[in-house]
Amino acid sequence: MEEQAYFYRDTWAEVDLDCIAENVSSVRKHLPEKVEIMAVVKANAYGHGDVQVAKTALSAGASLLAVAFMDEAVALRHKGIHAPILVLGASRPEDVQVAAKYNISLTVFQKDWLQQAQQHLASGDRVSLHIKVDTGMGRIGVRSRDELSSVEQFILKDERFHFEGIFTHFATADELDTRYFKQQLALFEELLKGLTKQPKYVHTSNSAAAIRFPHAYFNAVRLGITMYGLTPSLEMQKEIPFPLKEAFSLQTRLVHVKKVKKGDKVSYGATYESGSDEWIGTIPIGYADGWIRRLQGQEVLVDGKRSPIVGRICMDQCMVRLPAQLPVGTAVTLIGRQGQEFISINEIAGKLETINYEVPCIISNRVPRLYKKGGKIVDIKNDVLGKSQA
Ligand SMILES: Cc1ncc(COP(=O)(O)O)c(C=O)c1O
Repeated sequence: MEEQAYFYRDTWAEVDLDCIAENVSSVRKHLPEKVEIMAVVKANAYGHGDVQVAKTALSAGASLLAVAFMDEAVALRHKGIHAPILVLGASRPEDVQVAAKYNISLTVFQKDWLQQAQQHLASGDRVSLHIKVDTGMGRIGVRSRDELSSVEQFILKDERFHFEGIFTHFATADELDTRYFKQQLALFEELLKGLTKQPKYVHTSNSAAAIRFPHAYFNAVRLGITMYGLTPSLEMQKEIPFPLKEAFSLQTRLVHVKKVKKGDKVSYGATYESGSDEWIGTIPIGYADGWIRRLQGQEVLVDGKRSPIVGRICMDQCMVRLPAQLPVGTAVTLIGRQGQEFISINEIAGKLETINYEVPCIISNRVPRLYKKGGKIVDIKNDVLGKSQA
């Protein structure tokens, strides 16, 4: 298999970049032209691959990128991304010169931070800043008109600081009850009135708000989960006006197949006992890959059929009760489609009693990511995506 030339195990994730492009362009069509898309590619693009997703999103209609930490922004610069990047989380004031050097925009919300940052900037340096307003998320951000004003004035007085943006983040944009959302938006609009200067970018919306609330667009939206083809919450699944294409799938192969007799045990703790003579397959994925022990009992797809994981999940392997005797090397799909069957990320999230966001994020770096375009695995060595859009 040519796509396995870059790693030496039978477990990999496939990221379909056409799905990501389609999701971004669906959102692009949904938004007014003047509203820019900031593609949120933090956490290795929610586990999908930072640079590949960034390039795809930029080609499909995004014009800005956002990450959580400066390390992620610097990594993207080193991988050849020239598009504007905003760090959404807190950065350290002593690292401000790095942000200036790499042309990375930072999020600020404390006057003390700005004072300390001044000491780390040389006279010709210039760093772009977005003020974060905490309108009810309770995470980071200025919370009052006075706080906002003192941060803004401090920025405006030092020409090494460029006041590029202001933003807030909604805590409940994906819930059907919109009262708290409306409260946050009203507070943000009120605080905006206190600004001396309107910066270039004013942005509030995550995926859920970008789909549901045109009156909260301002001039950019921060698009994360929807770009990956996932719904921001189960509640709002019906409100999405275009199809979303799930980009991430997880694949492995049977590395061992055996017949066990009725009463034989499987895996640590010998907790699984076969109820009859059964075919048991072993797959090379375990909790160190993010396929955690809570997934015991979860079905996988083998030979187009749903087959349960039996016994405890080990660090690197787990076992599956097969529908029939199957050869070593048979493809097993843990997330994604096989024949008529589909295991969605939402199904795995349900089993884990968590949200879909968490699932691709926890599939560890030990699982290689392969990229698909036009239904084919992209040659990652020759990077057929090219650099023109970066
Ligand atoms: C500040 C901020 N903006 C935007 C996003 C993207 O949100 P979503 O993935 O729901 O589109 C996130 C994600 O957590 C975020 O923290």
